[in-house]
Amino acid sequence: MIIRNAKFYQGGKVVSKDILIEKGKIAGIGKFKGEGIDAKGLFAFPGLIDPHVHLRDPGLTHKEDFKSGTRAALAGGVTTVLDMPNTKPPATTAKAFKAKLQLAKKSAVCDYGLHFGATKNNFPEVKKAKPNSIKLYMGESTGKLLVDDIYSIWKHFALFPKNKPLIVHAEDEETLNAMKKMKGERGAIAEKIAVEKARLIAEQTGRVVYFAHTTTFEAVHLAKIWERSVVEVAPHHLFLSQDKDGGRLGKFSKVYPPLRSEAERRELWGALYYVDTVGSDHAPHTAADKRAGAAGFPGLETTLALFLDAYNKGMIELPWIINRMAENPARIFGLGSKGRLEKGYDGDITLVDLDEKWTVRAEDFESKCGWSPYERFKLKGRVNKVILRGNLVVDNSKVIKEAKGKRVL
Ligand code: DOR
Ligand code: ZN
Repeated sequence: MIIRNAKFYQGGKVVSKDILIEKGKIAGIGKFKGEGIDAKGLFAFPGLIDPHVHLRDPGLTHKEDFKSGTRAALAGGVTTVLDMPNTKPPATTAKAFKAKLQLAKKSAVCDYGLHFGATKNNFPEVKKAKPNSIKLYMGESTGKLLVDDIYSIWKHFALFPKNKPLIVHAEDEETLNAMKKMKGERGAIAEKIAVEKARLIAEQTGRVVYFAHTTTFEAVHLAKIWERSVVEVAPHHLFLSQDKDGGRLGKFSKVYPPLRSEAERRELWGALYYVDTVGSDHAPHTAADKRAGAAGFPGLETTLALFLDAYNKGMIELPWIINRMAENPARIFGLGSKGRLEKGYDGDITLVDLDEKWTVRAEDFESKCGWSPYERFKLKGRVNKVILRGNLVVDNSKVIKEAKGKRVL
């Protein structure tokens, strides 16, 4: 396969060259003869890697499953997803982890990896399953995978291989409970206290910690006091706030960690230089589940487009998007063949039309959940084509083909 006339970054400069893919790998960049896909007017990114999605399979498949969730990924320009463990049953035992891998193998249509879940006492299971990453919830969230005592947190930090990412949901349970009693809300201070705890224990144990969905400027900076901290942001904390969107969304605005104030949202933009990755935190729930109080937003089909729109408004540069949504996730999670448009890497390519204007309509989305917190947002910049290891799987912004997803971790 040859992709012709697309623009892309090569060595820090925008170039327009052909990309040759053979046997699923990028075989060359230059000028090539033969049949090709005309990508004139499109900009090419390495296929995006979303390190934080909840695809709900097994057990919660009325919200999403591996098929629908990975189709949503492709539609959003994501060619690799890393899935969270809070399914039913949760991926907290070697057996459940293995069974979940089988499900993904059968149904995923983009490349995938699974995060293993930490509990207060599943140390032998972590050892047995040998996952490449674990997720630890310091505060309770969907699925009730809570590890809130320092002893268990410390033990996981000490036992899990030091160079593998240990992902924390940094909201401190004791602070959440106290705030609930005092103020009836889930404030940003719970995040800052959890970040401090995790960061200090990470320093003590000398390990890599990956802070999921940090929501404030201060939390990002507190995390970064330790040099081996990795910091993720989720799109909703950058594009939505309680003040601006809470009223409009009502019960649909519930997410953990919560949307912050408009002032905190704006400040978070000022921390983006220090942020390492974007995770959509795609956490689909049906409208009925939201009305019943479920927390979480779908995000796979809007995240890149929101950032492209921000690019068009002069708020962010394209190399930041490429770095935080492809290069860094590949490096941090050890996905050696992914994340770059270079010879020898996997032929995963996301082609976007930077000028296309479109309106978000969840009814057109692949996700099963059927709604979006960005409904009717008018955005400039859209995914047009996606290539997964040499297969054209999205064309004209629609999934046109299902190729078999491959396990990456
Ligand atoms: O709002 C959230 N939803 N926060 C989480 O931590 C989990 C997620 C989910 O799985 O629904
Ligand atoms: Zn999450």
